[in-house]
Amino acid sequence: MGVVGRKTRRFSFPLLLLNFFVVLLLQRAAVLVSGTRLNYTKYRQVSILRLERIQKHLENINKPPVLTIQSPDGDIIDCVHKRKQPALDHPLLKNHKIQKAPIMPKGITRNNEKGRGRDAWEYWQTWHRNGTRCPKGTVPIRRSTVHDVLRAKSLYHFGKKQPRMIPLSRRIDAPDVVTGNGHEHAIAYTGSSSEVYGARATMNVWDPSVQEVNEFSLSQIWVLSGSFDGSDLNSIEAGWQVSPELYGDSRPRLFTYWTSDSYQATGCYNLLCAGFVQTHNRIAIGAAISPVSSYAATQYDITILIWKDPKVGNWWMSFGDNTLVGYWPAELFTHLAQHGTMVEWGGEVVNTRANGQHTSTHMGSGHFAGDGFGKASYFRNLEIVDSDNSLSPVHNILTLAENTNCYDIRSSYNNQWGTYFYYGGPGNNPECL
Ligand SMILES: *[C@@H]1O[C@H](CO)[C@@H](O)[C@H](O)[C@H]1NC(C)=O
Ligand SMILES: *[C@@H]1O[C@H](CO)[C@@H](O)[C@H](O)[C@H]1NC(C)=O
Repeated sequence: MGVVGRKTRRFSFPLLLLNFFVVLLLQRAAVLVSGTRLNYTKYRQVSILRLERIQKHLENINKPPVLTIQSPDGDIIDCVHKRKQPALDHPLLKNHKIQKAPIMPKGITRNNEKGRGRDAWEYWQTWHRNGTRCPKGTVPIRRSTVHDVLRAKSLYHFGKKQPRMIPLSRRIDAPDVVTGNGHEHAIAYTGSSSEVYGARATMNVWDPSVQEVNEFSLSQIWVLSGSFDGSDLNSIEAGWQVSPELYGDSRPRLFTYWTSDSYQATGCYNLLCAGFVQTHNRIAIGAAISPVSSYAATQYDITILIWKDPKVGNWWMSFGDNTLVGYWPAELFTHLAQHGTMVEWGGEVVNTRANGQHTSTHMGSGHFAGDGFGKASYFRNLEIVDSDNSLSPVHNILTLAENTNCYDIRSSYNNQWGTYFYYGGPGNNPECL
């Protein structure tokens, strides 16, 4: 992208411009996070050329809106015509016909949304407080800004996750191994080698503090297939995350992710590249979630279901009370075009060791699993979808945490919560340096 433009410029008059720099001020100045001031304000020198490349990229992903809604939290939500959404720019989706309704897993009834009042999606997304809704036939998309891109390592890295460095199998054999790219987990997972067609869980929502702009803290479901040590890992992910780099603040946000090549060239968060097809006109992916749980007080959780439509083969996602959000088209994947082989549930943080010490970025609530309900974060009612398109409770889960002095996990079972676990931790502490 932009390569041709760059070449011609190099030999023409605007060459002079390269010697000048634009000084940009990243706006959202300081955000109060659990007593620590995170300063996202940075004066950065950005060449006009780079700025032009960024603008061009943004023109590609920010589609012309039918209507624009200003969220009270500062987000801009564009209502974009369904057929104009970024997904359909994907070369494999040229003649894609947007799927209206999938076959739901057995026993699940799609939310017909006839009911009024505080439906899950109305309740959870901050931008609804504006009072304006996206018109029928459009989908709400969080607009990306130059500032969003400038916080990323590069334009290429914008919206992408770093590759997983350590294969899961090796991490299990040597749980104390330091992960290569600083990603740390506290997760539950199904044993591999089975065929999986989806997963569901209800996850507790918190607003963990994140120490560095380029660290994150997330809680999510992964549906995986392919190999961890190869370049062909297929992954479908959804949950909530706090990522100052991606969003410029420290609010927990609903997110999706996908990759079909181990987080290399394909895939991205949310609608930041062509891929995920959104169908709902009231759920914006990447939008802030509120309210969130507080310590020893009211707990809030969200339910996410991901499953493969048995007829068309697309991977659908529903939110809350079986409200359809959208889907990852089967065409995006290699292994997942057939089925998944493993599901993971839990938390992940990035530890950059910015001060030569383990990060104090929290996972979950920032409290260890042993603290239990109201204090530690939880995932409850873990279920998987089998080849018969039936949801069933997971009985045999394994758990993994690379460094239990920093973040840990404890799973259990009871009648109400089925298979569930508590997970998380504070990161940096005398036992985790
Ligand atoms: C944030 O950082 C900028 C640039 O480094 C500085 O000018 C500004 O005073 C800082 N703001 C706060 C609130 O610390
Ligand atoms: C809602 O969005 C519109 C359009 O962006 C804006 O003009 C208005 O101020 C917003 N209202 C509230 C209450 O945020």
